[in-house]
Amino acid sequence: MGVAKIGRFPYSLSIMKQVYLDTFGCQMNVADTDRMELVLFHSGYRRTLEKEDADLILVNTCSIREKAEQKIFSLFGGLKPLKMANPDLILGLTGCLGQQEGEKLLKRMPYLDFVMGPDQVDGIAQAVDRVRDTGKSFVWTGFDQEKVYSIPELSLSKSPGPSAFVNIIKGCDKFCTFCVVPFTRGREKSREPEELFEEIRHLVNQGAKEIILLGQNVNSYGKRGLKNPMPFHELLYGIAEIPGVQRLRFTTSHPNDFTRETIRAYRDLDILVNHLHLPVQSGNNQVLKAMRRDHTIEEYRDLLAELKSEVPDISLSTDIIVGFPGETDEAFADTLKVMQEVGYSSSFMFAYSPRPGTPANELPDSVPEETKKRRLQETISLQSRQTAQQGQSFIGKNVKVLIEGRSSKPGYTFKGRNPQYWNVNIQGGESILKAGDTVTVQVETVSGHTLNGTTRQRDAG
Ligand code: 5AD
Ligand code: SF4
Repeated sequence: MGVAKIGRFPYSLSIMKQVYLDTFGCQMNVADTDRMELVLFHSGYRRTLEKEDADLILVNTCSIREKAEQKIFSLFGGLKPLKMANPDLILGLTGCLGQQEGEKLLKRMPYLDFVMGPDQVDGIAQAVDRVRDTGKSFVWTGFDQEKVYSIPELSLSKSPGPSAFVNIIKGCDKFCTFCVVPFTRGREKSREPEELFEEIRHLVNQGAKEIILLGQNVNSYGKRGLKNPMPFHELLYGIAEIPGVQRLRFTTSHPNDFTRETIRAYRDLDILVNHLHLPVQSGNNQVLKAMRRDHTIEEYRDLLAELKSEVPDISLSTDIIVGFPGETDEAFADTLKVMQEVGYSSSFMFAYSPRPGTPANELPDSVPEETKKRRLQETISLQSRQTAQQGQSFIGKNVKVLIEGRSSKPGYTFKGRNPQYWNVNIQGGESILKAGDTVTVQVETVSGHTLNGTTRQRDAG
């Protein structure tokens, strides 16, 4: 593919076609959509926020739970009349649902022009050309096992906000029995460390202050397939050497790949923030085993105890699934127990959703929907109480906030996050502050996972 050089606009904006992009699902999908926007920009498409103006509509999909799928089908129902009214409009479905369902989607929605999987993101311009050239619909999925995972120079033309995401690894080799990711995103592949360091240096030069490393299982970074193999913790130390990186985060982690060396990195590296998202999924050993998480709840607790001994004020968040096949009332009570013991600052909580092709789909979906709903509600209530309790402990205290942008809360100027990943609304500083500044904020009130307070001063740096 002919790739335009950084910073040079290949087309006059007035003759560019327009693409409307919609994204469902995780941060990886958000990053993939950004990437497609960039690739398409260099092929003569600029982004529009109006579907009606678009020459090309792409929906980047998610299939992690059934609810996500339902939302996507209802969105396409609304797009069909646009295609009927304008046959030149190109309609593409990309992402995990595309990988999972392939041809079935063309049968269900014959007005679709193409279906693509997550591994084809860089080929989006070719896919569009193919529709234009042949006028025929097609499915393009699968994985190129030989291809290295690289996001080359094109990404460098992007100007980041104060907090920038960097994909370090894609795919997953864990095969938890409930999860479609190993099937939709394929085997783990890491990007070369040098490419990552270069991207981060570039992001910092462009104004990024915080780097968030992304991957389905970041701790597995660098295990194989690299010219210069490098374990995850060494990557962290390497990033800490780059001048200008003020904060470093990563998500998501798997407890089994979370090493002692990474715990040590928390102790050694000032830029590594005191927050960790560590999915537990369930507090019960039998359920964990059936989920094939390959660790016990005791091992999970021991890991956190070790981490807390190095970073006493670390805040923890998690993912929880309720109603997995075979989850009894007692097993569910173990999940509530671990939530209480750990005291997560926030959690993503889900009712189990059987997914086609996953091993758990072969098990009877034994927990009635009503019970799943009730258990989900119980976890949500418990988490709300814990978040509220922790929030109260911030009142009257000072927190360091990296300003990410304007606040939409009336009476507040800016919003950002503290190191522990609480949202913070800021009052004051209107004329002296800007996005990218770090400020000290005195917390006055709390709502949910958001702290509200006032600043009068900007910190150095
Ligand atoms: N049903 C419910 N939740 C799921 N997750 C993944 N697959 C499923 C499923 N089939 C949740 C897990 C994972 C998060 C991203 O989504 O908690 O960590
Ligand atoms: Fe899915 Fe498990 Fe991989 Fe996470 S670690 S992406 S839950 S298979």
